[in-house]
Amino acid sequence: TTTCVIMAGGKGERFWPKSRTNLPKQFLNISGSKSMIQQCIDRLELFIPIEQVFVITNELYAELIRAQVPTLPSNNIIIEPVGRNTAPCVGLASIIIEEQYPDSSMIVLPSDHIIKDEEEFINILQTAVEVSRQGKNLVTLGITPTHPETGYGYIESAGLSAQMNNLTINRVNKFVEKPNYEIATAYVEAGNYFWNSGIFVWRTSVLREYIQDLMPEMHDLLETMKIGFTQSDRNAVIRSEFHKMPEQSIDYGIMEKASDIYVIPCTLGWDDVGSWTALERIDDLDENGNVIRGNTLNIDTKRCIIESNGKLIATLGVEDLIIVETDDVTLICKKEKAQEIKSLIKELKLQK
Ligand code: GDD
Ligand code: MG
Repeated sequence: TTTCVIMAGGKGERFWPKSRTNLPKQFLNISGSKSMIQQCIDRLELFIPIEQVFVITNELYAELIRAQVPTLPSNNIIIEPVGRNTAPCVGLASIIIEEQYPDSSMIVLPSDHIIKDEEEFINILQTAVEVSRQGKNLVTLGITPTHPETGYGYIESAGLSAQMNNLTINRVNKFVEKPNYEIATAYVEAGNYFWNSGIFVWRTSVLREYIQDLMPEMHDLLETMKIGFTQSDRNAVIRSEFHKMPEQSIDYGIMEKASDIYVIPCTLGWDDVGSWTALERIDDLDENGNVIRGNTLNIDTKRCIIESNGKLIATLGVEDLIIVETDDVTLICKKEKAQEIKSLIKELKLQK
């Protein structure tokens, strides 16, 4: 069987002030008429029954998921009482899925990415599932890098290993999570590196062998929880044990250290919609290179990203700004600072 885990516990802070603690990016309509998680589920439903799709998220968002995805069986919503990043998230999902689907190939993916090419997406995932069944393989989807982005993981390919369904499967030399700018630049120039798309495929048994080797403390906790599930209510067990998990991403915890990794290079029309500047790739720009959403009046305004929530935003003689208006906040930010919007949230929390 093939199962799927959608990770939907992120805070989407770089999309502040539209993305908020009680309504983060994955639940917003950033492109199109549905929220990002709804689009993610629609895409998966093209080749996998909804009963085999699981969503794992923070307590705060369980209701939002029920409301936005009413067809998802309520048992398939896995609730974390606290955020411990993606390694515990994926580990917990694997033991819950195994109760119902022994040794399935588990597709792990973020809830908040844009994927335009659905046909390629399905073909690649089906191929990745085949590869996952052939050994102790961890399979990743790699995107050809266009610039030295430091917010991504980089996958060094060791070259062609097999061809399958019109795709190449490459063995991975190493996986490097979020290198610094110099290193990322060298990787992009080298030509045999891919961005980690954040989409992984592996069998649950294989994942757990790696967890046992590389994150033994987490392995023990998962074993305790598995026993707990047979004795009492799932949520009660999670509530009493999950906070003990180490805070670690799957990228640092497993992928950087694991041996048998394969990458399938792809394009997918993928975008992780990491910050406001992503809208420049999603929307059609006006004749001055602006992204304009909502009610605005612009004279002599160039390369700005402007989103109004109703109120007229009038600009004159400005360049390279992000201007976002919501009910209670107006953000004005230099485009080059788009990655640092988190620092405003930090400061706001300090002032409270
Ligand atoms: N349930 C749950 N719990 N979900 C989480 C948690 C958590 O504690 N933390 C993050 N997520 C979800 C986010 O909502 C997102 O969909 C996904 O997991 C990845 O987390 P991010 O926080 O967005 O990771 P990142 O962007 O820094 O880096 C990852 O994604 C890049 C591609 O977008 C890494 O996998 C990189 O290697 C990769 O290049
Ligand atoms: Mg991300």
